[in-house]
Amino acid sequence: MSDDGRETTPAQSRYDQARYIENGEYEPLLSEKDLTRIDIDYGDNGDDEESTDSPLPDDLTRDSLELPELSEPELARHYTRLSQMIYGIDSGPYPLGSCTMKYNPKFTEDVAALPSAAVHPDRSEASVQGTLELLYRLQDYLGQIGGMDAVTLQPPAGAAGEFVGIRVAAAYHEHNGEGHRDEVIIPESAHGTNFASAALGGYDVVSLPSDDEGRVDLEALEAALSENTAALMLTNPNTLGLFERDIAEIADMVHDVGGLLYYDGANLNALLGRARPGDMGFDVMHYNVHKTFATPHGGGGPGAGPVGVVEKLAPFLPAPRVRERDEKSKTGESVYERFDPEHTIGKVHGFDGNWLVLVKTFAYIARLGDEGLLDASASAVLNANYLAERIDYEIPYGPFHHEFVASAGEQDAADVAKRMLDYGVHPPTTKWPEIVPEALMTEPTEIESKDTLDRLAAAFNAVAGEDDDTLEAAPERTTARRIDQTSAARNPRLSWQALTDDS
Ligand SMILES: Cc1ncc(COP(=O)(O)O)c(C=O)c1O
Repeated sequence: MSDDGRETTPAQSRYDQARYIENGEYEPLLSEKDLTRIDIDYGDNGDDEESTDSPLPDDLTRDSLELPELSEPELARHYTRLSQMIYGIDSGPYPLGSCTMKYNPKFTEDVAALPSAAVHPDRSEASVQGTLELLYRLQDYLGQIGGMDAVTLQPPAGAAGEFVGIRVAAAYHEHNGEGHRDEVIIPESAHGTNFASAALGGYDVVSLPSDDEGRVDLEALEAALSENTAALMLTNPNTLGLFERDIAEIADMVHDVGGLLYYDGANLNALLGRARPGDMGFDVMHYNVHKTFATPHGGGGPGAGPVGVVEKLAPFLPAPRVRERDEKSKTGESVYERFDPEHTIGKVHGFDGNWLVLVKTFAYIARLGDEGLLDASASAVLNANYLAERIDYEIPYGPFHHEFVASAGEQDAADVAKRMLDYGVHPPTTKWPEIVPEALMTEPTEIESKDTLDRLAAAFNAVAGEDDDTLEAAPERTTARRIDQTSAARNPRLSWQALTDDS
Protein backbone atom coordinates (compact mmCIF):
# COMPACT_ATOMS: atom_id res chain seq x y z
CA MET A 1 0.00 0.00 0.00
CA SER A 2 1.46 3.39 -0.93
CA ASP A 3 1.44 6.48 1.28
CA ASP A 4 -1.68 7.87 -0.33
CA GLY A 5 -3.55 4.64 0.40
CA ARG A 6 -3.54 3.34 -3.16
CA GLU A 7 -3.27 -0.41 -3.79
CA THR A 8 -0.12 -1.14 -5.76
CA THR A 9 0.13 -4.48 -7.46
CA PRO A 10 3.68 -5.76 -7.79
CA ALA A 11 4.86 -6.57 -11.29
CA GLN A 12 4.25 -10.21 -12.22
CA SER A 13 6.26 -10.79 -15.36
CA ARG A 14 8.48 -9.13 -17.91
CA TYR A 15 5.40 -7.80 -19.64
CA ASP A 16 3.72 -6.58 -16.44
CA GLN A 17 6.88 -4.73 -15.52
CA ALA A 18 6.54 -3.08 -18.83
CA ARG A 19 3.10 -1.72 -18.04
CA TYR A 20 3.10 -1.48 -14.19
CA ILE A 21 -0.47 -1.95 -13.06
CA GLU A 22 -2.05 0.05 -10.24
CA ASN A 23 -5.42 -0.95 -8.79
CA GLY A 24 -5.78 -3.38 -11.66
CA GLU A 25 -5.66 -0.56 -14.19
CA TYR A 26 -3.18 0.39 -16.85
CA GLU A 27 -0.69 3.03 -15.86
CA PRO A 28 -1.74 6.58 -16.74
CA LEU A 29 -0.63 8.01 -20.03
CA LEU A 30 2.01 10.70 -19.97
CA SER A 31 -0.65 13.23 -20.85
CA GLU A 32 -2.59 12.20 -17.72
CA LYS A 33 0.32 12.34 -15.27
CA ASP A 34 1.25 15.08 -12.78
CA LEU A 35 -1.07 17.57 -14.41
CA THR A 36 -0.39 21.19 -13.59
CA ARG A 37 -2.84 23.97 -14.45
CA ILE A 38 -1.15 26.78 -16.32
CA ASP A 39 -2.82 30.11 -17.00
CA ILE A 40 -2.55 31.26 -20.56
CA ASP A 41 -1.42 34.79 -21.21
CA TYR A 42 -2.31 35.83 -24.73
CA GLY A 43 -0.21 38.96 -24.28
CA ASP A 44 -0.31 41.96 -26.51
CA ASN A 45 -2.66 41.41 -29.45
CA GLY A 46 -0.68 43.75 -31.64
CA ASP A 47 -2.92 46.79 -31.18
CA ASP A 48 -1.73 49.78 -29.23
CA GLU A 49 -4.32 48.94 -26.62
CA GLU A 50 -3.27 46.49 -23.92
CA SER A 51 -5.36 43.31 -24.31
CA THR A 52 -5.28 39.74 -23.02
CA ASP A 53 -7.97 38.59 -25.42
CA SER A 54 -7.14 36.05 -28.05
CA PRO A 55 -7.73 37.10 -31.66
CA LEU A 56 -9.47 33.70 -32.12
CA PRO A 57 -13.21 33.17 -31.45
CA ASP A 58 -14.13 32.44 -27.82
CA ASP A 59 -15.22 28.85 -28.48
CA LEU A 60 -11.76 28.03 -29.82
CA THR A 61 -9.78 29.46 -26.93
CA ARG A 62 -9.26 28.77 -23.24
CA ASP A 63 -7.77 30.65 -20.33
CA SER A 64 -5.84 27.81 -18.82
CA LEU A 65 -4.44 24.45 -19.78
CA GLU A 66 -3.52 21.31 -17.87
CA LEU A 67 -0.11 20.03 -18.87
CA PRO A 68 1.93 17.17 -17.42
CA GLU A 69 5.10 18.12 -15.57
CA LEU A 70 7.48 15.21 -15.92
CA SER A 71 11.11 14.59 -15.17
CA GLU A 72 13.49 13.33 -17.83
CA PRO A 73 13.89 9.83 -16.26
CA GLU A 74 10.12 9.45 -16.23
CA LEU A 75 9.98 10.23 -19.90
CA ALA A 76 12.91 8.01 -20.82
CA ARG A 77 11.50 5.08 -18.83
CA HIS A 78 8.05 5.54 -20.30
CA TYR A 79 9.24 5.24 -23.86
CA THR A 80 11.71 2.48 -23.08
CA ARG A 81 8.96 0.43 -21.44
CA LEU A 82 6.63 1.08 -24.35
CA SER A 83 9.29 -0.22 -26.70
CA GLN A 84 9.49 -3.38 -24.56
CA MET A 85 5.77 -4.00 -24.82
CA ILE A 86 5.93 -4.74 -28.50
CA TYR A 87 7.64 -7.51 -30.35
CA GLY A 88 9.75 -6.75 -33.39
CA ILE A 89 12.49 -8.20 -35.51
CA ASP A 90 15.00 -6.64 -33.10
CA SER A 91 13.43 -8.56 -30.18
CA GLY A 92 13.56 -12.10 -31.52
CA PRO A 93 12.69 -14.51 -34.35
CA TYR A 94 9.84 -13.45 -36.62
CA PRO A 95 9.11 -16.40 -38.92
CA LEU A 96 6.15 -14.84 -40.71
CA GLY A 97 5.91 -16.91 -43.91
CA SER A 98 5.82 -14.96 -47.18
CA CYS A 99 6.71 -11.77 -45.31
CA THR A 100 10.46 -12.39 -45.10
CA MET A 101 10.92 -10.53 -41.84
CA LYS A 102 14.68 -10.43 -41.77
CA TYR A 103 16.81 -8.31 -39.50
CA ASN A 104 17.51 -4.91 -40.96
CA PRO A 105 21.27 -4.31 -40.72
CA LYS A 106 21.87 -1.06 -38.91
CA PHE A 107 24.53 0.06 -41.37
CA THR A 108 21.75 0.50 -43.95
CA GLU A 109 20.04 2.90 -41.53
CA ASP A 110 23.33 4.74 -41.07
CA VAL A 111 23.68 5.17 -44.82
CA ALA A 112 20.09 6.38 -45.13
CA ALA A 113 20.72 8.88 -42.34
CA LEU A 114 23.72 10.49 -44.07
CA PRO A 115 23.13 14.18 -44.82
CA SER A 116 23.78 13.44 -48.49
CA ALA A 117 20.75 11.09 -48.49
CA ALA A 118 18.51 14.01 -47.54
CA VAL A 119 18.74 16.00 -50.75
CA HIS A 120 15.61 17.84 -51.78
CA PRO A 121 13.99 16.10 -54.74
CA ASP A 122 13.34 19.40 -56.50
CA ARG A 123 17.02 20.23 -56.86
CA SER A 124 18.48 20.50 -60.32
CA GLU A 125 19.80 17.28 -61.84
CA ALA A 126 23.28 18.76 -62.12
CA SER A 127 23.39 19.18 -58.33
CA VAL A 128 22.13 15.67 -57.46
CA GLN A 129 24.32 13.52 -59.63
CA GLY A 130 25.11 11.24 -56.66
CA THR A 131 21.41 10.60 -56.06
CA LEU A 132 20.83 9.84 -59.72
CA GLU A 133 23.86 7.56 -59.89
CA LEU A 134 22.58 5.57 -56.92
CA LEU A 135 19.17 5.19 -58.58
CA TYR A 136 20.77 4.24 -61.88
CA ARG A 137 23.02 1.65 -60.27
CA LEU A 138 20.16 0.22 -58.24
CA GLN A 139 18.08 -0.17 -61.42
CA ASP A 140 21.07 -2.01 -62.84
CA TYR A 141 21.62 -4.22 -59.75
CA LEU A 142 17.98 -5.23 -59.68
CA GLY A 143 17.97 -5.86 -63.42
CA GLN A 144 20.95 -8.19 -63.04
CA ILE A 145 19.45 -9.99 -60.05
CA GLY A 146 16.11 -10.56 -61.79
CA GLY A 147 17.43 -11.07 -65.31
CA MET A 148 15.35 -8.11 -66.47
CA ASP A 149 16.30 -5.50 -69.10
CA ALA A 150 14.78 -2.39 -67.52
CA VAL A 151 13.64 -1.44 -64.02
CA THR A 152 11.48 1.27 -62.48
CA LEU A 153 12.08 2.08 -58.82
CA GLN A 154 8.89 4.05 -58.31
CA PRO A 155 6.25 1.71 -56.81
CA PRO A 156 6.18 2.05 -53.00
CA ALA A 157 5.23 -1.55 -52.11
CA GLY A 158 4.96 -5.05 -53.53
CA ALA A 159 1.26 -4.67 -54.21
CA ALA A 160 1.89 -1.31 -55.88
CA GLY A 161 4.55 -3.02 -58.01
CA GLU A 162 2.05 -5.70 -59.02
CA PHE A 163 -0.44 -3.05 -60.05
CA VAL A 164 2.22 -1.22 -62.08
CA GLY A 165 3.31 -4.50 -63.71
CA ILE A 166 -0.28 -5.26 -64.66
CA ARG A 167 -0.79 -1.75 -66.05
CA VAL A 168 2.43 -2.06 -68.05
CA ALA A 169 1.22 -5.40 -69.46
CA ALA A 170 -2.13 -3.83 -70.33
CA ALA A 171 -0.44 -0.87 -72.07
CA TYR A 172 1.72 -3.30 -74.05
CA HIS A 173 -1.27 -5.33 -75.24
CA GLU A 174 -3.21 -2.18 -76.03
CA HIS A 175 -0.27 -0.78 -78.02
CA ASN A 176 -0.17 -3.99 -80.08
CA GLY A 177 -3.88 -3.85 -80.86
CA GLU A 178 -4.60 -6.65 -78.39
CA GLY A 179 -6.69 -4.67 -75.97
CA HIS A 180 -9.33 -7.38 -76.09
CA ARG A 181 -7.23 -9.52 -73.72
CA ASP A 182 -9.19 -9.23 -70.50
CA GLU A 183 -8.09 -12.18 -68.31
CA VAL A 184 -5.26 -12.66 -65.84
CA ILE A 185 -4.69 -16.21 -64.59
CA ILE A 186 -3.55 -16.64 -60.97
CA PRO A 187 -2.93 -19.87 -59.01
CA GLU A 188 -5.32 -20.24 -56.09
CA SER A 189 -2.36 -20.44 -53.69
CA ALA A 190 -1.14 -16.95 -54.70
CA HIS A 191 -0.93 -13.98 -52.37
CA GLY A 192 -4.19 -12.01 -52.10
CA THR A 193 -2.61 -8.90 -53.56
CA ASN A 194 -2.16 -10.71 -56.92
CA PHE A 195 -5.92 -11.10 -57.30
CA ALA A 196 -6.53 -7.55 -56.12
CA SER A 197 -3.91 -6.03 -58.45
CA ALA A 198 -5.28 -7.83 -61.49
CA ALA A 199 -8.85 -6.85 -60.64
CA LEU A 200 -7.86 -3.25 -59.93
CA GLY A 201 -6.01 -3.25 -63.25
CA GLY A 202 -9.36 -3.95 -64.94
CA TYR A 203 -8.93 -7.67 -65.56
CA ASP A 204 -11.14 -10.68 -64.94
CA VAL A 205 -9.30 -13.06 -62.66
CA VAL A 206 -9.14 -16.74 -63.62
CA SER A 207 -8.21 -18.79 -60.56
CA LEU A 208 -6.00 -21.81 -61.21
CA PRO A 209 -6.16 -24.92 -58.99
CA SER A 210 -2.95 -26.55 -57.75
CA ASP A 211 -2.02 -30.12 -58.65
CA ASP A 212 -1.66 -32.88 -56.04
CA GLU A 213 1.91 -31.79 -55.35
CA GLY A 214 0.95 -28.16 -54.69
CA ARG A 215 2.29 -26.81 -57.98
CA VAL A 216 0.61 -25.34 -61.07
CA ASP A 217 -1.73 -27.90 -62.61
CA LEU A 218 -0.61 -27.93 -66.26
CA GLU A 219 -3.87 -29.37 -67.58
CA ALA A 220 -5.87 -26.72 -65.76
CA LEU A 221 -3.49 -24.08 -67.13
CA GLU A 222 -3.94 -25.38 -70.67
CA ALA A 223 -7.70 -25.13 -70.22
CA ALA A 224 -7.51 -21.61 -68.80
CA LEU A 225 -5.23 -20.14 -71.48
CA SER A 226 -6.84 -18.49 -74.49
CA GLU A 227 -6.57 -15.55 -76.87
CA ASN A 228 -8.08 -13.53 -73.99
CA THR A 229 -5.16 -14.21 -71.66
CA ALA A 230 -3.25 -11.03 -70.82
CA ALA A 231 -0.93 -12.63 -68.26
CA LEU A 232 -0.27 -15.45 -65.83
CA MET A 233 0.94 -14.26 -62.42
CA LEU A 234 3.21 -16.71 -60.59
CA THR A 235 5.21 -16.80 -57.38
CA ASN A 236 8.23 -19.08 -57.66
CA PRO A 237 9.02 -20.71 -55.29
CA ASN A 238 5.28 -20.60 -54.70
CA THR A 239 3.66 -19.81 -51.37
CA LEU A 240 4.19 -23.42 -50.25
CA GLY A 241 7.92 -22.86 -50.78
CA LEU A 242 7.88 -25.21 -53.79
CA PHE A 243 9.79 -24.47 -56.96
CA GLU A 244 7.65 -24.67 -60.10
CA ARG A 245 9.70 -27.35 -61.85
CA ASP A 246 7.72 -26.94 -65.09
CA ILE A 247 8.40 -23.23 -65.32
CA ALA A 248 9.99 -23.43 -68.80
CA GLU A 249 6.98 -25.31 -70.15
CA ILE A 250 4.60 -22.93 -68.37
CA ALA A 251 6.38 -19.95 -69.94
CA ASP A 252 6.08 -21.51 -73.41
CA MET A 253 2.40 -22.23 -72.92
CA VAL A 254 1.67 -18.63 -71.87
CA HIS A 255 3.78 -17.11 -74.64
CA ASP A 256 2.23 -19.40 -77.26
CA VAL A 257 -1.16 -17.76 -76.70
CA GLY A 258 0.38 -14.28 -76.72
CA GLY A 259 0.18 -13.76 -72.95
CA LEU A 260 2.84 -12.37 -70.61
CA LEU A 261 4.36 -14.12 -67.62
CA TYR A 262 4.38 -12.09 -64.40
CA TYR A 263 6.70 -12.92 -61.51
CA ASP A 264 5.70 -12.04 -57.96
CA GLY A 265 9.18 -11.41 -56.56
CA ALA A 266 8.20 -11.48 -52.92
CA ASN A 267 9.91 -14.87 -52.62
CA LEU A 268 13.14 -13.84 -54.31
CA ASN A 269 15.04 -14.57 -51.10
CA ALA A 270 15.20 -18.23 -52.14
CA LEU A 271 16.69 -17.48 -55.55
CA LEU A 272 19.15 -14.66 -54.90
CA GLY A 273 22.28 -15.18 -56.97
CA ARG A 274 21.16 -18.66 -58.07
CA ALA A 275 18.32 -18.35 -60.53
CA ARG A 276 16.73 -15.42 -62.32
CA PRO A 277 13.08 -14.99 -63.23
CA GLY A 278 14.15 -13.49 -66.58
CA ASP A 279 16.00 -16.71 -67.43
CA MET A 280 12.90 -18.74 -66.56
CA GLY A 281 10.86 -16.89 -69.16
CA PHE A 282 9.20 -14.22 -67.01
CA ASP A 283 8.48 -10.93 -68.81
CA VAL A 284 7.66 -8.66 -65.90
CA MET A 285 8.28 -8.87 -62.16
CA HIS A 286 8.20 -6.86 -59.00
CA TYR A 287 10.81 -7.03 -56.27
CA ASN A 288 9.78 -6.68 -52.64
CA VAL A 289 13.01 -4.94 -51.75
CA HIS A 290 11.75 -4.39 -48.20
CA LYS A 291 11.74 -8.17 -47.75
CA THR A 292 14.60 -9.47 -49.84
CA PHE A 293 17.15 -6.80 -49.08
CA ALA A 294 16.67 -4.43 -46.14
CA THR A 295 13.84 -2.59 -44.34
CA PRO A 296 11.49 -5.45 -43.43
CA HIS A 297 8.05 -3.92 -43.40
CA GLY A 298 5.45 -3.99 -40.71
CA GLY A 299 2.02 -2.50 -40.54
CA GLY A 300 2.03 -1.61 -44.21
CA GLY A 301 5.26 0.23 -44.70
CA PRO A 302 7.68 1.58 -45.50
CA GLY A 303 8.62 -0.38 -48.56
CA ALA A 304 9.41 -0.29 -52.24
CA GLY A 305 8.27 -2.58 -55.01
CA PRO A 306 10.43 -1.84 -58.08
CA VAL A 307 9.29 -3.46 -61.31
CA GLY A 308 11.59 -5.11 -63.84
CA VAL A 309 10.62 -5.91 -67.42
CA VAL A 310 12.06 -7.45 -70.57
CA GLU A 311 13.05 -5.17 -73.44
CA LYS A 312 9.69 -5.14 -75.23
CA LEU A 313 7.90 -3.79 -72.14
CA ALA A 314 10.50 -1.13 -71.23
CA PRO A 315 8.83 1.70 -73.22
CA PHE A 316 5.72 1.38 -71.04
CA LEU A 317 7.39 1.70 -67.61
CA PRO A 318 6.40 4.57 -65.30
CA ALA A 319 8.13 7.92 -65.59
CA PRO A 320 10.72 9.02 -64.80
CA ARG A 321 13.51 6.47 -64.94
CA VAL A 322 17.20 7.30 -64.70
CA ARG A 323 19.79 6.76 -67.44
CA GLU A 324 23.44 7.52 -68.09
CA ARG A 325 24.02 10.07 -70.80
CA ASP A 326 26.26 9.16 -73.74
CA GLU A 327 28.56 12.13 -73.22
CA LYS A 328 30.72 12.55 -70.09
CA SER A 329 31.09 15.70 -67.99
CA LYS A 330 33.93 18.16 -68.66
CA THR A 331 35.95 16.35 -66.02
CA GLY A 332 35.32 13.00 -67.70
CA GLU A 333 32.69 11.68 -65.27
CA SER A 334 29.44 9.92 -66.09
CA VAL A 335 26.36 12.15 -66.19
CA TYR A 336 22.94 10.86 -65.16
CA GLU A 337 19.52 12.18 -66.06
CA ARG A 338 15.85 11.39 -65.60
CA PHE A 339 13.81 10.49 -68.69
CA ASP A 340 10.29 9.44 -69.58
CA PRO A 341 9.98 6.07 -71.38
CA GLU A 342 8.42 6.45 -74.84
CA HIS A 343 4.96 5.02 -74.10
CA THR A 344 5.05 5.44 -70.34
CA ILE A 345 1.97 4.62 -68.29
CA GLY A 346 2.77 7.84 -66.39
CA LYS A 347 3.78 8.65 -62.86
CA VAL A 348 2.96 6.25 -60.05
CA HIS A 349 4.75 7.97 -57.16
CA GLY A 350 6.11 11.37 -56.24
CA PHE A 351 9.63 12.12 -57.44
CA ASP A 352 11.86 9.00 -57.56
CA GLY A 353 9.86 6.62 -55.37
CA ASN A 354 10.40 5.69 -51.74
CA TRP A 355 13.91 7.08 -51.82
CA LEU A 356 15.25 6.12 -48.37
CA VAL A 357 14.09 2.52 -48.78
CA LEU A 358 15.90 2.48 -52.11
CA VAL A 359 19.06 3.82 -50.44
CA LYS A 360 18.93 0.97 -47.91
CA THR A 361 18.37 -1.56 -50.70
CA PHE A 362 21.37 -0.23 -52.57
CA ALA A 363 23.54 -0.25 -49.45
CA TYR A 364 22.54 -3.84 -48.66
CA ILE A 365 23.24 -5.19 -52.14
CA ALA A 366 26.49 -3.25 -52.46
CA ARG A 367 27.74 -4.46 -49.05
CA LEU A 368 26.81 -8.12 -49.58
CA GLY A 369 27.95 -8.36 -53.21
CA ASP A 370 27.51 -11.50 -55.32
CA GLU A 371 28.94 -13.84 -52.70
CA GLY A 372 26.92 -12.35 -49.87
CA LEU A 373 23.65 -12.64 -51.77
CA LEU A 374 24.47 -16.26 -52.63
CA ASP A 375 25.12 -16.95 -48.95
CA ALA A 376 21.85 -15.27 -47.98
CA SER A 377 19.74 -17.49 -50.21
CA ALA A 378 21.65 -20.64 -49.20
CA SER A 379 21.17 -19.88 -45.50
CA ALA A 380 17.49 -18.98 -45.98
CA VAL A 381 16.82 -22.37 -47.56
CA LEU A 382 19.01 -24.25 -45.06
CA ASN A 383 17.32 -22.58 -42.08
CA ALA A 384 13.82 -23.36 -43.34
CA ASN A 385 14.73 -26.99 -43.88
CA TYR A 386 16.51 -27.31 -40.53
CA LEU A 387 13.56 -25.86 -38.65
CA ALA A 388 11.07 -28.02 -40.55
CA GLU A 389 13.07 -31.10 -39.63
CA ARG A 390 12.79 -30.26 -35.93
CA ILE A 391 9.11 -29.46 -35.54
CA ASP A 392 6.40 -31.99 -34.69
CA TYR A 393 3.71 -30.56 -36.97
CA GLU A 394 3.13 -32.31 -40.30
CA ILE A 395 4.37 -30.56 -43.45
CA PRO A 396 2.31 -31.97 -46.33
CA TYR A 397 4.17 -30.44 -49.29
CA GLY A 398 7.85 -30.48 -50.21
CA PRO A 399 10.68 -30.28 -51.03
CA PHE A 400 10.47 -26.65 -50.11
CA HIS A 401 12.99 -23.85 -50.21
CA HIS A 402 13.01 -20.69 -48.07
CA GLU A 403 9.68 -21.40 -46.33
CA PHE A 404 7.36 -24.29 -45.54
CA VAL A 405 3.71 -24.65 -44.66
CA ALA A 406 3.01 -26.95 -41.72
CA SER A 407 -0.48 -28.03 -40.72
CA ALA A 408 -1.74 -27.50 -37.18
CA GLY A 409 -3.96 -30.57 -37.80
CA GLU A 410 -6.74 -30.76 -35.21
CA GLN A 411 -5.58 -27.56 -33.54
CA ASP A 412 -6.75 -24.13 -34.64
CA ALA A 413 -3.80 -22.40 -36.36
CA ALA A 414 -4.84 -19.02 -34.90
CA ASP A 415 -4.76 -20.48 -31.37
CA VAL A 416 -1.36 -21.99 -32.06
CA ALA A 417 -0.12 -18.55 -33.11
CA LYS A 418 -1.47 -16.89 -29.95
CA ARG A 419 0.07 -19.56 -27.75
CA MET A 420 3.48 -19.21 -29.39
CA LEU A 421 3.54 -15.63 -28.13
CA ASP A 422 3.53 -17.03 -24.60
CA TYR A 423 6.77 -18.83 -25.42
CA GLY A 424 8.39 -15.53 -26.36
CA VAL A 425 8.55 -15.94 -30.13
CA HIS A 426 6.57 -14.45 -32.98
CA PRO A 427 4.26 -16.98 -34.64
CA PRO A 428 4.22 -17.94 -38.31
CA THR A 429 1.63 -16.72 -40.83
CA THR A 430 -1.58 -18.67 -40.28
CA LYS A 431 -4.50 -20.13 -42.25
CA TRP A 432 -2.92 -19.41 -45.62
CA PRO A 433 -2.42 -20.83 -48.17
CA GLU A 434 -5.73 -22.61 -47.75
CA ILE A 435 -4.54 -25.68 -49.61
CA VAL A 436 -2.97 -26.73 -46.28
CA PRO A 437 -5.55 -27.22 -43.49
CA GLU A 438 -4.86 -24.93 -40.51
CA ALA A 439 -1.74 -23.63 -42.22
CA LEU A 440 1.34 -22.48 -40.32
CA MET A 441 3.39 -20.78 -43.01
CA THR A 442 6.90 -20.47 -41.68
CA GLU A 443 9.89 -18.56 -43.00
CA PRO A 444 12.78 -18.23 -40.53
CA THR A 445 14.98 -16.36 -43.10
CA GLU A 446 18.76 -16.56 -43.27
CA ILE A 447 19.38 -14.37 -40.23
CA GLU A 448 18.65 -16.87 -37.46
CA SER A 449 21.32 -18.87 -35.64
CA LYS A 450 20.99 -22.58 -34.92
CA ASP A 451 20.22 -21.76 -31.27
CA THR A 452 17.38 -19.48 -32.25
CA LEU A 453 15.98 -22.05 -34.66
CA ASP A 454 16.11 -24.61 -31.84
CA ARG A 455 14.25 -22.19 -29.58
CA LEU A 456 11.63 -21.67 -32.27
CA ALA A 457 11.26 -25.42 -32.77
CA ALA A 458 10.89 -25.87 -29.00
CA ALA A 459 8.06 -23.32 -28.99
CA PHE A 460 6.29 -25.06 -31.89
CA ASN A 461 6.63 -28.41 -30.18
CA ALA A 462 5.51 -27.20 -26.77
CA VAL A 463 2.34 -25.81 -28.36
CA ALA A 464 1.82 -28.96 -30.43
CA GLY A 465 1.46 -30.92 -27.20
CA GLU A 466 -1.11 -28.62 -25.56
CA ASP A 467 -4.87 -29.01 -25.20
CA ASP A 468 -7.59 -26.79 -26.66
CA ASP A 469 -8.39 -25.06 -23.36
CA THR A 470 -4.82 -23.89 -22.97
CA LEU A 471 -4.67 -22.75 -26.57
CA GLU A 472 -7.97 -20.92 -26.42
CA ALA A 473 -6.88 -19.04 -23.28
CA ALA A 474 -3.65 -17.86 -24.90
CA PRO A 475 -1.85 -15.55 -24.85
CA GLU A 476 -1.46 -15.29 -21.08
CA ARG A 477 1.97 -13.75 -20.75
CA THR A 478 1.78 -10.84 -23.16
CA THR A 479 1.02 -7.20 -22.47
CA ALA A 480 -2.29 -7.39 -24.29
CA ARG A 481 -4.34 -10.59 -24.06
CA ARG A 482 -6.38 -11.94 -26.93
CA ILE A 483 -8.14 -9.19 -28.81
CA ASP A 484 -11.28 -9.43 -30.90
CA GLN A 485 -9.53 -9.27 -34.25
CA THR A 486 -12.65 -8.50 -36.27
CA SER A 487 -13.59 -5.52 -34.11
CA ALA A 488 -9.97 -4.42 -33.97
CA ALA A 489 -9.89 -4.34 -37.77
CA ARG A 490 -13.39 -3.01 -38.41
CA ASN A 491 -13.85 -0.70 -35.45
CA PRO A 492 -10.39 0.37 -34.37
CA ARG A 493 -10.04 2.64 -31.32
CA LEU A 494 -7.11 4.74 -32.27
CA SER A 495 -7.35 7.40 -29.58
CA TRP A 496 -6.58 7.01 -25.88
CA GLN A 497 -9.79 8.93 -25.25
CA ALA A 498 -11.80 6.16 -26.92
CA LEU A 499 -10.31 3.68 -24.45
CA THR A 500 -11.83 5.54 -21.53
CA ASP A 501 -15.23 5.73 -23.21
CA ASP A 502 -17.13 2.49 -22.66
CA SER A 503 -19.90 3.49 -25.02
C1 LIG B 1 3.84 -13.40 -52.14
C2 LIG B 1 3.56 -11.93 -51.89
N1 LIG B 1 3.24 -11.15 -52.93
C3 LIG B 1 2.99 -9.83 -52.76
C4 LIG B 1 3.03 -9.24 -51.53
C5 LIG B 1 2.68 -7.78 -51.40
O1 LIG B 1 3.74 -7.02 -50.94
P1 LIG B 1 3.51 -5.68 -50.08
O2 LIG B 1 3.07 -6.11 -48.73
O3 LIG B 1 4.83 -4.99 -50.08
O4 LIG B 1 2.47 -4.86 -50.79
C6 LIG B 1 3.36 -10.02 -50.42
C7 LIG B 1 3.38 -9.38 -49.06
O5 LIG B 1 3.29 -9.93 -48.04
C8 LIG B 1 3.64 -11.39 -50.60
O6 LIG B 1 3.97 -12.18 -49.57
